[in-house]
Amino acid sequence: MQLSPSVRINSEAELEFLEVNAPFCQAKIYLQGGQIVSFIPKGKPDLLWCFNEAVFLAGKSIRGGIPICWPWFGAHEQADFPQHGFARTAQWRAEEVNESKDQIEIVLSLPSKLIPEALWPYKTNLEVKFFLSDSLHIELITTNLDSQPLEFSQALHTYFPTSSIHHTHVSGFDGCEYVEFGEIKMQTGDIHFTEETDRVFDHLNQKPVITTPEGQIALAPINSCSAVVWNPWIEKSKRLSHFANEDYQNMLCVETANVREDKVYLEPLQAHTLGVKLSWLS
Ligand code: BG6
Repeated sequence: MQLSPSVRINSEAELEFLEVNAPFCQAKIYLQGGQIVSFIPKGKPDLLWCFNEAVFLAGKSIRGGIPICWPWFGAHEQADFPQHGFARTAQWRAEEVNESKDQIEIVLSLPSKLIPEALWPYKTNLEVKFFLSDSLHIELITTNLDSQPLEFSQALHTYFPTSSIHHTHVSGFDGCEYVEFGEIKMQTGDIHFTEETDRVFDHLNQKPVITTPEGQIALAPINSCSAVVWNPWIEKSKRLSHFANEDYQNMLCVETANVREDKVYLEPLQAHTLGVKLSWLS
């Protein structure tokens, strides 16, 4: 693969990543998981939160940035299959870097030959495209190369930073139904965080906005009908890997997804793109 003036390959502990140092942004994208963990537009704070005390290890998912959950979300009915699918710990292939004056496009792929057949006995191609400018636009493209129809769930499990979860809220879900801890409820007003929060919204057409003490972050989802809003709060934080007990105060996840009844059906040779554009509102 041909790199470009602002993109180089680097490594840390066991993992390789693409490091972007452009006039308009800095970013870090691991090949494991096809996972972006940092995106700093010029003059603005990082748009992404990432646990920074861990030594990242091959095969262990990185907590932070945008883990790619695919081709299922949450637990699998087969108990020994990994939570949130295998894409977030798979080794992706760097395919393309295209740099212009005000944007860098990076393409990674996960062809089925890099996926254990026991986990996914179908022929697919998965690509992730990052369009880095003064905003971050990510697209996850699934192509069905099999001779039979496929169905899958997916999420761009985005971790956002905040200096105080107590002074953070998410708007865009007022009047929407969600499932949380097995119960169906209705969101009234903005989402504030005062306890463990794990809300799965489906049949959506929303553009969430996150308000933090550092500013507002706008999300513009593409072909996404679900969203998950998550903060583990005090007790669950103690049980999470790669997460300090106090970290729940400085992060929240707003996930761009297609899960539950919104899972995607793909006929042979069809492709589906899930995306989201993230930006600081000045
Ligand atoms: C969220 C789920 O998407 O991911 C939560 O809704 C889960 O229930 C969280 O705890 C983190 O999952 P993991 O596998 O990264 O610890």
